[in-house]
Formats: sequence, C-alpha cells, structure tokens
Amino acid sequence: MTSKKDVLVEDRAPSTDEFRKHVLEGLRKPQKAISSKFLYDERGSEIFEKITDVADYYPTRSERKILLSRGDEIAELIGEKAAVIEPGSGNSEKVPMLLDRLVDPVAYIPIEISQEFLVRASEEIAAKYPGLEVLPVCADFTQPLDMPLPKRKATRNLVFFPGGTIGNLHPSEAAHFLERFRSMAGDAGAVLIGVDLVKDHGVIERAYNDSEGVTADFNLNLIDRMNREIGADFDRDAFRHHAPFNTEESRIEMHLVSQREQTVTIDGESFHFDEGEPIVTEYSYKYTPERFREVAHQAGLEVAKLWTDDDALFSLQLCVTKIEGSPNWVEK
Ligand code: AVI
Repeated sequence: MTSKKDVLVEDRAPSTDEFRKHVLEGLRKPQKAISSKFLYDERGSEIFEKITDVADYYPTRSERKILLSRGDEIAELIGEKAAVIEPGSGNSEKVPMLLDRLVDPVAYIPIEISQEFLVRASEEIAAKYPGLEVLPVCADFTQPLDMPLPKRKATRNLVFFPGGTIGNLHPSEAAHFLERFRSMAGDAGAVLIGVDLVKDHGVIERAYNDSEGVTADFNLNLIDRMNREIGADFDRDAFRHHAPFNTEESRIEMHLVSQREQTVTIDGESFHFDEGEPIVTEYSYKYTPERFREVAHQAGLEVAKLWTDDDALFSLQLCVTKIEGSPNWVEK
C-alpha cells in the first residue's frame, strides 16, 4: 500500500511467476497462444502509445474526433453531477475530453493496475480539475472490487471505457466485462464505450500491419520480454509479425510467425516450431452495430445512442441499464 496526499493505492500487477506460468501453458497448446495483456510491459506500453499516432492506425484518431465533435451531446445525455468511473484508465489522457464537457461532475474514479500510471494521472487530473474529487483505485478491474464513494452524491455513475479494448476479448467475455461495467454503473447508470467497427478489410489490415513497422515492434517486444524476464532463448529475428483479418470470426489476429523450423527453450522445457507456425498474441474483434447491440443485451444493457466519425470507422456507444418496469433515463 502506498499513500501520497489523497492518493491511496495498492499494487496488484501480475508477477513474473504468473507470466512464466502463462507462457509455458500457452506454448504447450496445439495452437500456441499468449494473452495480449502481456504485450504491455513498460516498453510495450511505450510502443502502444506510438501506435496510437501511426497514420495507418485509425481507431484512436477516429475516437478522438467523435469525442470532440459530440462532447456536448454526450454531456447533455449524461446530465449534471455524474461520477465518472474509468476502468483501465492508463494515463487518463482521454477523460479530459469528457470532463471538459460534463456539467459539474462530482468525482473521477480511475481504476488502473499500474500504480505508477495511476498516481501520476490522478495527480494531473486533480490539478486540472480542482473541484473534482479524484478517487483512484489500483486494481485489476476484471476482479470484484469495492468502489469508493464520492463525498458529494452523484446523480449517476458513468463508466467510461474508450479505446476499443472491448474488442480484444472474445464476444462472450466482452459480455461478462459489460456485466461488470453494468454493476459498477448501478441502476441509473450508463456505460460510454469505444467499439471498433467492421469495415473494408484492407483498412483494418493496414492498421495492424502498419507501414512504419510500429505494430510489428509492439508484437515482437513480447519475444524480448520472454527472453528478458523468464529466460527464454527466442531468436527475435526468426519470428515475423503478421496480422491477418479472420472474416469468419470478424477479428484481426496478431501472430508471431516462426520463420523456420526451430526449438525454443524456457525453464528447461523445449517448444518445437514448424516453419510458418504462429503464436497468437492478440485478437481484435470488429463489430457491426447489430452484433454489439446483442453483446450489450446479454449483459443487461441497451445501446441508447451510437456515434461514429464521418468515415464510420469507429464508434462510441452509450449503453444504459435495463430495469424491468422502469423507464430509462436516456430519451431515445
Ligand atoms: C488496445 N487495443 C484496443 C488495440 C487494438 O486495436 O486492438 C491493441 C492493438 N494491437 C495492435 N495495435 C493496437
């Protein structure tokens, strides 16, 4: 536990042992796979920041355009005195676009596993919005947690989940996540979520195989991480980044493809790779509005409003809790 002024945080980042266990289990599978959450070590997070500026990677830019152009409309629907909860808040760089427009928000509750990010971002938000109570929680938001209660009573909770990260989960898992968001939001609450849309496959594939090679660097960093942290002996140059669009599953798949037949050793255990054999490191699902509506519905949420950028590449969707017999607070 660390205390710094008003900021009380607890560090629950995954340990090296968890990483090792996960990698060993993942490489023993017939379809070798490693969870995308391990792409984000310090260097991986830095490279991801770069991806968001890459010309071929449209999601971040498109979402920003929606937030900036539709901010007033969003604020009007949310109403005054909302408590904004941001799971996986990172450096909290997007929330000002919302806080700047909301009328008298009572609190900002960032939930972030990286203590360093959380403390820095919370201090920055607290300095930028002096009247706003900032209540950071250092935790894995996928696990149950007690939410802090703002001093001023909020009219409603708004769970803010920008970035399109919901797409990195299988749709059934996405529904579970949304259920958690729904319970964080409470009965009169809402969830404002970024969702990447199905579109021309060429546009999607270019975003994940960018011409600057930044996404390749992001993916290959996982090899460096395994070598550094768990003593693997991968030859980075013997693997290639490849991210094809899987039409049937409506998802981008990030692969690390073995360039030759080879054996990699970790903890005395050998893993054989055929030439062309991939390790799957990330899925990024792309939704039609109808499909996402179904996923939200499974979680007991209704999509009250959907905004897109002018090119309909990305969407921001406002989901509200469905309460049997009581009207929704959002006018449709
Ligand atoms: C974090 N997430 C929404 C990104 C995405 O687009 O799926 C991660 C990413 N992977 C490669 N580029 C970006």
